Amino acid sequence: MTTTIELKPSSHPLSDAEREQIMANPGFGRHFTDHMVTIKWTEGRGWHDAELVPYAPLSIDPANMTLHYAQTIFEGLKAYRQPDGTVATFRPDANARRFQASARRLGMPELPVDTFIAACDALVTQDKAWVPASGEESLYLRPFMFATEVGLGVRPANEYLFLVIASPAGAYFPGGVKPVSVWLSEEYVRACPGGTGAAKAGGNYAASLVAQAQAAEHGCDQVVWLDAIERRWIEEMGGMNLYFVYGGDAGRRRIVTPELTGSLLPGITRDSLLRIAQDLGYEVAEGRISVDDWKNGNADGSLTEVFACGTAAVITPVGSVKSTRAGWTVADGRPGEVTMKLRKALLDIQTGASADTHGWMHPL
Ligand code: PLP
Ligand code: COI
Repeated sequence: MTTTIELKPSSHPLSDAEREQIMANPGFGRHFTDHMVTIKWTEGRGWHDAELVPYAPLSIDPANMTLHYAQTIFEGLKAYRQPDGTVATFRPDANARRFQASARRLGMPELPVDTFIAACDALVTQDKAWVPASGEESLYLRPFMFATEVGLGVRPANEYLFLVIASPAGAYFPGGVKPVSVWLSEEYVRACPGGTGAAKAGGNYAASLVAQAQAAEHGCDQVVWLDAIERRWIEEMGGMNLYFVYGGDAGRRRIVTPELTGSLLPGITRDSLLRIAQDLGYEVAEGRISVDDWKNGNADGSLTEVFACGTAAVITPVGSVKSTRAGWTVADGRPGEVTMKLRKALLDIQTGASADTHGWMHPL
């Protein structure tokens, strides 16, 4: 089923000059394009009233169930300008399927995959002028859904609103790729077995903020989450998955990412890199990595690089680690060779500089 999305005529886009001023230095998630998509869901009726409308505030009842019980999920994906001037999104079908999985976990209705893609396509097509001209700058799409029913009963709501908004995103590292420092969170956990960690649910991010503040107090950029039971196994970062690179001669490097335990987010960048790393001839595995493995591998030199990956930041080297008990520099603290090779290979596919052999790009 493909949903027809109607364009409301009363659009008041920014002028070319205003848009160009924003796009000269967009930052991340600070500015939004001229339009948004909205689709309603009502119990008994299903999905209805798909519209592409001017970007505008929503009116929320104080007893809106989301404000109280947090039935809200989101996605993040990017549209890139291609060398011939057209625009393509990266793996929107994967985001659509993860959105369905998040909806199931939060007791929300599942949006059909083709409706999710049609909604993203409609917005990007309408606001194409907001897709940066080239390079690794992109238009970040934020599809999301929340309960719109009014009432204080604790149960799945019977009305929801799905939206897609878009925000121009500059290079995440305007001054070049810069390694981040990370704080191992031993006091706070992000997710536990049976919880919502594998869903992209707003509540997971709310629960992470105090640990992020703790990381900042210790002079670190980001939090690394450990498993909830033993506080020993590395899970992921606040908005990125992690990869560990073990040494050997360049062709024989072994790359390991924490396995999907149910309490970490199955990142689409993570999944893409599992395949790109194989394409580049690396040995790749999903496994368990403990804090001690990280510390000891670093000390004996067998662990040569660590990096984080996600849609917003693409690939970010991890330069140093701190916890209540220890602290160390990852290898020489600089972006590693494998990290930068994988980063280039991924960005080359996304920006159309190399062939899309996996069929990941979705042209508009
Ligand atoms: N882990 C968390 C908690 C995230 O929020 C994200 C960002 O979406 C990721 C990992 C990386 O996922 P993806 O590569 O799909 O952006
Ligand atoms: C993303 O990379 O898309 C994220 O969602 C990370 C963060 C902005 C929540």
